[in-house]
Amino acid sequence: MKIAVYGASGYQGKLVLTELARRDIEPVLAGRDLTRLEQAASAAGLLDAERRVAGTGDHAALVRAFRGCDGVINCAGPFTSSGEAVVRAAIAAGCHYVDTSGEQLYIKKIFDTFATEAQNAGVTVVPAANDGCVPVDLMARVLADHLGSVEEIITTHVIVGGGGMSRGSLRSLAETIDAVKAGGLTYDDGDWRPGMPARRTAIRLPGQSEATPVMAFPVPEVVTIPRHIRVRHVEGLTEAALGDRLNIPLTPEIIESLPEGPEEDSRRSQRFTYVIDASGTDGRRARGIVQGPDTYGTTAVIAVEGARRLIVEPAKPGVLAPAQAYHPIAFLDVLISHGIQWITEDASAT
Ligand SMILES: NC(=O)c1ccc[n+]([C@@H]2O[C@H](COP(=O)([O-])OP(=O)(O)OC[C@H]3O[C@@H](n4cnc5c(N)ncnc54)[C@H](OP(=O)(O)O)[C@@H]3O)[C@@H](O)[C@H]2O)c1
Repeated sequence: MKIAVYGASGYQGKLVLTELARRDIEPVLAGRDLTRLEQAASAAGLLDAERRVAGTGDHAALVRAFRGCDGVINCAGPFTSSGEAVVRAAIAAGCHYVDTSGEQLYIKKIFDTFATEAQNAGVTVVPAANDGCVPVDLMARVLADHLGSVEEIITTHVIVGGGGMSRGSLRSLAETIDAVKAGGLTYDDGDWRPGMPARRTAIRLPGQSEATPVMAFPVPEVVTIPRHIRVRHVEGLTEAALGDRLNIPLTPEIIESLPEGPEEDSRRSQRFTYVIDASGTDGRRARGIVQGPDTYGTTAVIAVEGARRLIVEPAKPGVLAPAQAYHPIAFLDVLISHGIQWITEDASAT
């Protein structure tokens, strides 16, 4: 099995290379700059791995870079400006595709733009194969199967510790800051709508006796969940305390002055909690909780497992949500050995 990593020279790309090496999967390092690819190969201990240079402005070169590979993992963000070119080339090269994007409008655009192209090519595309979207989308599916008929799904993301965001994540945030500050899309009554006020202003998080103030946030699963669950309303939230931090100016100079990403020790000390609250049309409620360490390390595990599964257990061609591409419980169970716990709770406890 051969998987190309586009953006292999970045912080996330190098973690994906390390995970491919751990899984004994042959990587092809792809990106726009050979020197940066050489450095990444050396950092990941992959001196013999193939390097292929192609920029996102050269479709033919990108297709050549992916040809002969079984899959592509795209880690080159910001995806809003460069992601579509990589998806188009992966499809043209006949490669299954996942990416690590968290940019909500980009993710929706991939669903809106490439469904037919991917179907015609017999290729499966799964955007947002990251620490948040995959487990939360899969958990939503588990809760929906439990409830039978779903009225509302509300997801809340809380991340503590960990030494902050990588430069690449900050660039993606800066590029989409207006949409982020506006709270992103809400799925309501059959369509995705910007600017809707959140229904919840506080959520009781696991292990806490008091509710935590929350605000609308453009999480990817607002785009993916309604593709496989018939539901009237889906919204994404995060801690309201994040709001003040979004007002700190993020110029390119400030971002460049920061480290590439958190050191390994800080990364591993980070803890994420994703809460999925679902209400049935009959009034019953269920909660799913996903908790674990290290969002970037977890993203590497999920992107590699996501690409590998598309190759060995093909899903239908097209652009798919995680729960359309993968068996929810089988995939969630793979994550347990990486320190990620997932549980469902009865309504009475929420
Ligand atoms: N949960 C989530 O939402 C989540 C989790 C993890 C990662 N992510 C996303 O993953 C992305 C990568 O993060 P990172 O920390 O690895 O960023 P990074 O260190 O800045 O790396 C970015 C990579 O993309 C390449 N690149 C950037 N712009 C490009 C362009 N226009 N054409 C071709 N290549 C380009 C860079 O190539 P050079 O080396 O040549 O500059 C580099 O390889 C970010 O968008 C981040 O938000 C999201």
